[in-house]
Amino acid sequence: MITHVIVCTVIASEMPGVDVKLIKLLGLNPSVKRIMLHHQGCFAGGTVLRIAKDLAENNANARVLVVNAESIIGDFRGPSEENMASLVLQAIFGDGAAALIIGADPIDQVERPIFQIAFTAETIIPDTEDGVAGKLRDTGLKFILSDNVPSLIADNIEKSLMEAFGPIGINDWNSIFWAPHPGGPKILDKIESKLRLTKDKLAATRHMLQEYGNMSSACVLFILDEMRRRSKEDGMLTTGEGLKWGVLFGFGPGLTVETVVLRSCPIV
Ligand SMILES: CC(C)(COP(=O)(O)OP(=O)(O)OC[C@H]1O[C@@H](n2cnc3c(N)ncnc32)[C@H](O)[C@@H]1OP(=O)(O)O)[C@@H](O)C(=O)NCCC(=O)NCCS
Repeated sequence: MITHVIVCTVIASEMPGVDVKLIKLLGLNPSVKRIMLHHQGCFAGGTVLRIAKDLAENNANARVLVVNAESIIGDFRGPSEENMASLVLQAIFGDGAAALIIGADPIDQVERPIFQIAFTAETIIPDTEDGVAGKLRDTGLKFILSDNVPSLIADNIEKSLMEAFGPIGINDWNSIFWAPHPGGPKILDKIESKLRLTKDKLAATRHMLQEYGNMSSACVLFILDEMRRRSKEDGMLTTGEGLKWGVLFGFGPGLTVETVVLRSCPIV
């Protein structure tokens, strides 16, 4: 039974929120515990996993329904040379929604986990608050995007990796599977070259970006689904491309970096 609902979206601003509509639509218990995350941005695919893990581990038998639903309609503008960020947004962003259920202690023979969340962390890269932003103006929310965002992320990502994987003795970034938020192709290119990742590491991520665009916080959930689907199709032994450990990254306004260490599950 679903005990908690976390809904995450940039666009909703009504009261009651889209979480209430969803609970009614799905016929969930009206006493289900709700958390609504508004106006977070692209990094929040990691945030929802971090919060859900805490809820699942600290409330016996909790089953947390996580929903990320994003649309770029709030930032849609006519083309203007003075607003390059809006042009980039319209070129590479897209709409998307994804959901998953998170719990601790899966019921044998009934629940079949696809990934285990082993560790989560969140950090703000100092003095980068103007990198990606949404500023409220009389025309609505104005999207701000600086062209140095790919470098800022690539230059700071290894610190997060070392903090997350140090305790389990991993420092070879090609030995893990990868599910980073695909903010744009340049971000992936810079991460790949900075960490000397082999081309296959970001294949699932690049595929989802190519097919659906940057769907903000929903992207990483799509990538996890793509990864477990591909792993099964390719005859791998685990949901994480045959590997045991992997990383999911959220990047977005702040600049915020959400780091989630995942453990894959056997494919049966
Ligand atoms: C936008 C993007 C797809 C364009 O890729 P591309 O077609 O290969 O082109 P480039 O990256 O070389 O950029 C082309 C030009 O656009 C400019 N540009 C790129 N991003 C820009 C931005 N956010 N704002 C203003 N100009 C930008 C570049 O400076 C370059 O200008 P120049 O031709 O005068 O040198 C790519 O730069 C990208 O992936 N950027 C990251 C997007 C991002 O930060 N997303 C985060 C959201 S969480």
